[in-house]
Amino acid sequence: MSPEAPLTDHEPNDERHGPGTDRAEAPVALVSGGTRGIGFGVARALIARGDRVCVTGRDRERLAEAVAELGPRAMGVAGKAHDPAHQKEAIEQVLESWGRIDHLVNNAGSNPAFCQLTDVEPALLAKIFEINVLSAFGFARGVWEAWQREHGGTIVNVSSIAGLGATPLIGGYGMTKAAMINMTQQLAQEMAPQVRVNVVAPAVVKTRFASPLYEGNEEAVSSVYPLKRLGVPEDVAAAVAFLTSAGAGWITGETLVLDGGVRLNANLG
Ligand SMILES: NC(=O)c1ccc[n+]([C@@H]2O[C@H](COP(=O)([O-])OP(=O)(O)OC[C@H]3O[C@@H](n4cnc5c(N)ncnc54)[C@H](OP(=O)(O)O)[C@@H]3O)[C@@H](O)[C@H]2O)c1
Repeated sequence: MSPEAPLTDHEPNDERHGPGTDRAEAPVALVSGGTRGIGFGVARALIARGDRVCVTGRDRERLAEAVAELGPRAMGVAGKAHDPAHQKEAIEQVLESWGRIDHLVNNAGSNPAFCQLTDVEPALLAKIFEINVLSAFGFARGVWEAWQREHGGTIVNVSSIAGLGATPLIGGYGMTKAAMINMTQQLAQEMAPQVRVNVVAPAVVKTRFASPLYEGNEEAVSSVYPLKRLGVPEDVAAAVAFLTSAGAGWITGETLVLDGGVRLNANLG
């Protein structure tokens, strides 16, 4: 993606950064894949607590809409999360606009293979790894080098309960989400004490990505969840807001499962 001015709704010298918030001091978060679904929910929650947030996404039009919806404390940089040039551009644009990157939320991800793992072509599996794992790794490494190694911060990776065990028909995706959990632990060890790195592992959350799993039969799908409902982006956003807050100051390398209790059913015969 050719470097262009970032999509932004903020004035460089404006004072609209929330009650009691010094603009220069307000924390800054970079959320990959933040134009809809879970990432958008995370961006909204972090902005609501006073952060400034940069969201990314491939669809430039949707990105502009998301930035407008998120308001004056939001900006956007378009591109593919797994493209190293985009990662570099996004990190540079955030630092140029706001001068810091306190929190990185590696949320962008997808699953183009819905079949038995034995039927996934290795080239497609490599692509899923590139999109889900290398994107998060590249952003984490880039933000570490550019800001967090010296100044500290947090990273939250968005994995899935599919990364915790075998799941029918999404085995390739599950492998990548398992890799994100291991990568989280490794980075948490290497980046301490400056940076806390954690990972969330949601079950089905109502977004466009997951809609084929519940559309038309949501009642039946949610009935197996002890809490009797599917997740919504706000559930994940609240967990990410906690993990990126001072209240989670002694938590690193941890996997926080967000599943409405569905894994409690694992021992049902
Ligand atoms: N929904 C669930 O049930 C669920 C459960 C567990 C884990 N997750 C994980 O949660 C994350 C978000 O999923 P979601 O359900 O919110 O999906 P979604 O509603 O489809 O939203 C995905 C977001 O990421 C962006 N995106 C997708 N691929 C990208 C790429 N290669 N580069 C940059 N941006 C990209 C999309 O914008 P563009 O299309 O414009 O790029 C969009 O903003 C994913 O990592 C997913 O694996 C989801």
